[in-house]
Amino acid sequence: MSFIITTPLYYVNDKPHLGSIYTTIICDSIARYKRLCGEEVTFITGVDEHGLKIQRTAKDNDLDPQVHCDNISDIFKKNWKDWDISFDKFVRTSSKDHEKIVSEFYKKVQGSDDIYMGVQKGWYCVGCEEFKDNPENSSTFKCPIHQKNLEWKNEENLFFRLSKYQTEIEDIISEPNFIEPKERRNEIINFVSRGLKDFSISRTNVTWGISVPDLINHTFYVWFDALLGYVSAVNIGNNENSLDASIQGGWPADIHLIGKDILRFHAIYWPAMLLSAGMKIPKKVMGHGFLTREGQKMGKSLGNVLDPQVLLSKYGKDPVRWYLIKDISLGNDGDFQDKRFVDIINNDLANTIGNLLNRTSSMSRKWFDNRVPCHENKTFKNELSSLAKIAVENYINNFNTLKLDQAAKDILNLAENTNLYLNDKQPWILIKEESKILLVKEIIYNVLESTRIIALLLRPILPELSLKIDAQLGHVYNKDMSWKEELEWGKLIQNTALPKPKPIINKLEYEQ
Ligand code: MSP
Repeated sequence: MSFIITTPLYYVNDKPHLGSIYTTIICDSIARYKRLCGEEVTFITGVDEHGLKIQRTAKDNDLDPQVHCDNISDIFKKNWKDWDISFDKFVRTSSKDHEKIVSEFYKKVQGSDDIYMGVQKGWYCVGCEEFKDNPENSSTFKCPIHQKNLEWKNEENLFFRLSKYQTEIEDIISEPNFIEPKERRNEIINFVSRGLKDFSISRTNVTWGISVPDLINHTFYVWFDALLGYVSAVNIGNNENSLDASIQGGWPADIHLIGKDILRFHAIYWPAMLLSAGMKIPKKVMGHGFLTREGQKMGKSLGNVLDPQVLLSKYGKDPVRWYLIKDISLGNDGDFQDKRFVDIINNDLANTIGNLLNRTSSMSRKWFDNRVPCHENKTFKNELSSLAKIAVENYINNFNTLKLDQAAKDILNLAENTNLYLNDKQPWILIKEESKILLVKEIIYNVLESTRIIALLLRPILPELSLKIDAQLGHVYNKDMSWKEELEWGKLIQNTALPKPKPIINKLEYEQ
């Protein structure tokens, strides 16, 4: 069975922002890691195209909603290609195939007697596409996330009997692996303990949505529709499109990676909906934190939105990936600071890793006929091989538990230790004595070998940089060898020709 990982399905009210890039990069790294570990992976991403928010955005742009969605959806796809995101399925909720899944699902939920007609009254945030609890009944009350006025709604809607699933949901969320990180799990547990209320799943004032079968004027509530995008995505590229085909095709998802603002939908509403339809629930919902810029919330009105495409053209993919993965602990909020960004990239990637490779490869080329030295210590036991072994073990444990920042730090640690080893051994002094030549060969081999392992560990996080390091080591892997086998010490082939070194990453300048 395939390991299924999903990003949220992004609203197409605008092009991707740093938050969407963040989630997508994290999912991409996890997907790449799992593939390297030999697992079959289905990495799902896509767009959430219906609802009042999109309907209004299209109207403001004088566009038919479908045309607007086609435009923005293409921008998302292009962005993901530019960032080299290794997704397998890109789902669009305005597709006919998705519409079919929503209707089939709705019939199952209806069959469980979980749908009824009622009246929905309350204050609604169009930005969140969500009713807000008890906001003092004031029309001037603003959504804390979007800072926009809430809108009063009073209409006949279909309701989903969420309250029926109180006990099941309590059991699901108390499972320690289901919601991560722990602090967010506690927030959800507290919320559920106050009692679950049924929620409305149709709208009569929204035309841009999937029509509810056999009910004139009602379209599905955008969240009821969008969450099912994960299920329809499973069928993309397959011959059959039905709920059963998704179930046969590997549902449930292993991880939904999402931001903290939409955790309730994924950790409460979604499992209850799936239970009602007799389907399996996802194995894990990981709620990451929010990114700010120089300590401030990003927003159009503040004029401080960081355009990911600008970052990409200015710095390239890997520096941005490194900063977002290494500097922010997954689950916590994070801050993007220009100066810190430049310092981290220069320090970690250009100096610690890049220089290590550059100077060692130069020494090796100079002293050993442009090649990796041959040496005689065939046991490969040395202080650096032990450090590399520990780094690999820690890294794997950290990746498996989604501590990607720690995994990145394990790589950096190994690079720092390798630099220390090199500085401590001082081969540039030893080489002056003929009797020390064997020792120098061993030292240089060890450092190059450690660098090879650093490149392999970087593979899921910084795919481009990792291949650049590999190319500089002139290393060609045996295709039958798994990534984990390649990670064993001693796989750098002695006597391999080393190409002329060039910087793997350019130093960045801080512009104020
Ligand atoms: N369409 C819904 C998701 C439906 S999933 C079936 C949605 N879309 S969104 O485009 O508004 O948000 C997508 C993701 O971006 C969310 O996970 C949200 O948490 C995340 N982010 C939005 N702003 C963010 C930051 N400033 N920082 C990090 N992530 C943030 O919600």
